[in-house]
Amino acid sequence: MTKMDKIGPRHVAIIMDGNGRWAQQRGRPRLVGHHAGAKRVREIVEACPDVGVKYLTIFAFSTENWKRTQTEVAGLMRLFRRYIEREARALLQEGVRVRFIGDRMKLDDKLVSLMDNLELLTSTNDKVHLTIALNYGGRDEVTRAAQRLAFEIEQGRLTHKDVDAETLAKFLDTQFLPDPDLVIRTSGEARISNFLLWQSAYAEYEFLDTLWPDFTSDEFKTVIGAYGTRDRRYGAVLA
Ligand code: IPE
Ligand code: IPE
Ligand code: MG
Repeated sequence: MTKMDKIGPRHVAIIMDGNGRWAQQRGRPRLVGHHAGAKRVREIVEACPDVGVKYLTIFAFSTENWKRTQTEVAGLMRLFRRYIEREARALLQEGVRVRFIGDRMKLDDKLVSLMDNLELLTSTNDKVHLTIALNYGGRDEVTRAAQRLAFEIEQGRLTHKDVDAETLAKFLDTQFLPDPDLVIRTSGEARISNFLLWQSAYAEYEFLDTLWPDFTSDEFKTVIGAYGTRDRRYGAVLA
């Protein structure tokens, strides 16, 4: 198992942080940073096949980000809509399968329909699996999963004895994903801010000082390369 892991991470998750500070450093509004950050995504997605990363999951908007100003939230929602409209064709051609995780109930209909369409459009792609976490929170996800599980029990389709880790994981938004091997956070903050709480139980973490809009595919490749030197033990003692 360890030998296989040393080949490289199959699933990398990224907390794309630091857009606001990047803009502030330039005396620009925060949204300028978000636009610069969005531009970085394509480069990182395209680098994935070169380094053997099959699954890339990116944190775009958290369940806590609604606390920001109305201007910033509205600007971000507009950016997500435009991003999907503009990138759909390139994603399709690059062989990227796109899926979204998070609670869609709070998102506007236009955005949700763009998300649904992009998922459908790219559903037969298999080169890279890009998952975008939008209105995502780890606690919110586990709570929603528990609610659905409780409903199944209420309906008599499951009993409390069926509730184990494997079953619960099937109710999570990430049911179609393997657990992340490596979680990267940019911007110098060493916290996970409610990202993939359940799934990252045994992930490796990499906290980088680089602000997200400055994160290049070269730095990404360096981080992926360094991962190969780590020993993952999963609680056991290595032979
Ligand atoms: C991350 O950048 C993007 C989102 C949370 C939407 P931030 O906007 O958090 O940037 P900083 O942390 O304020 O620099
Ligand atoms: C995490 O960044 C969320 C995203 C990158 C989308 P935040 O900037 O929202 O997290 P905190 O506030 O520093 O914990
Ligand atoms: Mg931040």
